[in-house]
Amino acid sequence: MKLLVTGAAGFIGSSFARMAVRNGHEVLVLDALTYAGNLANLDPIKDAKNFRFVKGDVRDSNLAQELLFTFKPHAVVHFAAESHVDRSIMDASPFISTNVGGTQVLLDALRKSEINCRYVQISTDEVYGSADDKKPFTEQHYLKPSSPYAASKTSADLMVLAYHHTYKMDVVVTRCSNNYGPYQFPEKLIPLFTTNLFEGKKVPVYGDGMQIRDWIHCDDHSRGVFAALEKGKSGQVYNLGGGNGKPNIEITKLLLKLTGRGEEYIQYVQDRPGHDRVYLIDHSKATRELGWTPQVDFEKGLADTVQWYRDNRPWWEAVKSGAYREYYQKQYGQRQG
Ligand code: NAD
Ligand code: TYD
Repeated sequence: MKLLVTGAAGFIGSSFARMAVRNGHEVLVLDALTYAGNLANLDPIKDAKNFRFVKGDVRDSNLAQELLFTFKPHAVVHFAAESHVDRSIMDASPFISTNVGGTQVLLDALRKSEINCRYVQISTDEVYGSADDKKPFTEQHYLKPSSPYAASKTSADLMVLAYHHTYKMDVVVTRCSNNYGPYQFPEKLIPLFTTNLFEGKKVPVYGDGMQIRDWIHCDDHSRGVFAALEKGKSGQVYNLGGGNGKPNIEITKLLLKLTGRGEEYIQYVQDRPGHDRVYLIDHSKATRELGWTPQVDFEKGLADTVQWYRDNRPWWEAVKSGAYREYYQKQYGQRQG
């Protein structure tokens, strides 16, 4: 298949792009290289004949139309987004602009292109709000996003489903739980805590640390996106989850153990405003209709992930210091476009 993958210089999109290229698909990545985009994440596939990278913004409709017209993909897989809740609390505008506006631009470009192409929207369990009753969300659960990030992703989902309804576009939406794995930007819980502990720094646990997240390995998420792309019914939403609902403090203690640090490295800090207590996801529809289940055992996946950060110190040191931006832009600048 020819796949136009947006946002694949980020964490999960790069897992998907690496998997797609290794499986022989022809992959064209469109990524604006915001602070979260890092070409090093695509290093393992950068010389593959079936891989190409274009630096550009999903809000640029001319570029989107040109790429669709020249590449003629079988599917657009839309990962590109502003993805960090804490940043959205500080400033919602890039979230509305990229996550809602960017999705609408892509949908319109695809609609006008009139090519036979499936559109896959990569969404999140955060659209459902907090499962305070601890009942896992099904796809029928009402939408009640809490953060500006979650509200922007919900708006984008609704736009995608409206385009299916109005224009009969071939779309599928996946909603996944919290991801972990290699190449995750160290502003999110697991890579931030792991790298802080390697550096001998404390880890900031928000509030009482009893907030529950359902963790899934990014490669399981990527396999789920492939399953939805290949077998999903048009206009449908599929939840993807790891079945590993755990409180943050439990994850923190596992990371202390894996890095050989003691509990004196825990620092309880002020809670995030509007912090959702519980995300739990019911992925039985994806299992039933797509034949997908998560494969990575959580304890092993977490240990392997910590080992990856141990083995790839130059990657996260460059990200934490900001050096990744200049270094990789210079090294690969000529290959863009
Ligand atoms: P990320 O922040 O690591 O990567 C986002 C990528 O999008 C970056 O490469 C960035 O440069 C690119 N991007 C941002 N704005 C852009 C724009 N205007 N034009 C083109 N590219 C742009 O994000 P991630 O954690 O890999 O998440 C990927 C997707 O998966 C997002 O849509 C997110 O909402 C969704 N998701 C994430 C999680 C999670 O746990 N991280 C869980 C469920 C769903
Ligand atoms: P995060 O990785 O930001 O993902 P999300 O907000 O999308 O779930 O956070 C995961 C959980 O960890 C969330 O409950 C907030 C908490 N958290 C901390 O306690 N300390 C931190 O420094 C961060 C980044 C997150």
